[in-house]
Amino acid sequence: MKVADLVNADATLISRRAWSDERVYQLEKRGIFGKAWLFLGHETQIPNTGDFVQAYMCETPIILARGEDDDIYACINSCSHRGLPVCRADHGNTKRFVCPYHNWSYKVSGELVAIPQERMVKKGPDKSVLGLKRVPRVESWRGMIFGSFDENIESLDSYLGDMRFYLDAFFERFPAGIEFMGAPHRWVIDANWKLPMENQLGDVNHGPYLHAAVIPPEANQEIYDHGFSVVPGPGHGATFRLMPEDVPIEQVAWGFEGLGTLLGGDEVQEYLCEVQRQSAERVGAIRSRMKGLTFGVYPNLSFLWSNTSFKVSHPRGPGQVEYWSWAAVPADAPDNIKKILRRNYSSFFGPGGILEQEDAESWMQQYLGSAIDFADDRCFYYGLGLGEEKPHPDLPGLVSGTANEYYARAFFQRWRDALMAVEDDHA
Ligand code: FES
Ligand SMILES: [Fe+2]
Repeated sequence: MKVADLVNADATLISRRAWSDERVYQLEKRGIFGKAWLFLGHETQIPNTGDFVQAYMCETPIILARGEDDDIYACINSCSHRGLPVCRADHGNTKRFVCPYHNWSYKVSGELVAIPQERMVKKGPDKSVLGLKRVPRVESWRGMIFGSFDENIESLDSYLGDMRFYLDAFFERFPAGIEFMGAPHRWVIDANWKLPMENQLGDVNHGPYLHAAVIPPEANQEIYDHGFSVVPGPGHGATFRLMPEDVPIEQVAWGFEGLGTLLGGDEVQEYLCEVQRQSAERVGAIRSRMKGLTFGVYPNLSFLWSNTSFKVSHPRGPGQVEYWSWAAVPADAPDNIKKILRRNYSSFFGPGGILEQEDAESWMQQYLGSAIDFADDRCFYYGLGLGEEKPHPDLPGLVSGTANEYYARAFFQRWRDALMAVEDDHA
């Protein structure tokens, strides 16, 4: 199997093995997760010295912490002595991580501080080289912290590129930015990690069918009439409605109104309208008319605008995902609004969320479809709207209607190049 055989030149045909083959997964670990910027957490989760949260970079366990110098550190959660995790709590505040096996202790920034057995031996080790292994590159943007195992990777700003224009349409709407509220939900889905990502890079098309029982027809009509799918750069994606200038304010506010009012009522509606009234000042005329749907950041971070949730799709082999999902709320919203927004997120896109259940079932079935014996000669078809993506005067990236599958073709072209770059490494 060669990677070039999995994806054709314009990425309209993709082999089922891209989702189900263990060898492909091993190449993804090295070619994608060993090289990309990966989302670790949000600065609001670790505001004080000694605060920490657990994270993952693919299957590698990470401790993300605020050090004594107030800087942010990401270290692999594995003791330098025999490899045990030195931190067992999901989140908290501490001065030291103490390994449970022989009690080596580390600062939250990773330096090895003490080895209890040292006083019983003549020759102690050089502790300065036995700290926890640090993730070599850690950077943040708008409070979103990313890490990379590639020391030479481009800056996070440049990596996100024009995706920042779209993310800012949400982040910059709120004077104090956003905060991650509470610990993430985490659950396991028997599907390949790319399936949730594809869905949120731009698969708007399944909404009227898979979610027919939940999404009202007028919401689907609005997407038909005003929907865009944008690829700000290969592997990233943003979908949204760009509402006409003259629609009443409650129809343009946030993109949340249809579902939000089910749970939030007038209180949320009034809050959203107030945010909307100030939005042109904060994000400019074009982005104030944007009602977001789904965003994706290469390779495995996504954002559901209307239900204020960030998600990371952590691979656990080709056939399993550990899905991490945070409620993100405006940092200066009143507490009761934050609670309503979080409840809204949970109801629709938490682990038992009504839309989440329908999506996850589809991803599990697609994964099974990618592993069917004797079906290798039937690639999945990704050609809808081929070549219809175009530049737009007001929107960076390549822009098209929501039925175009360019978002996935661009992702898989980048994916193919990333895997081809490492497929001969072991030879
Ligand atoms: S394994 Fe951590 S102290 Fe021995
Ligand atoms: Fe969905």
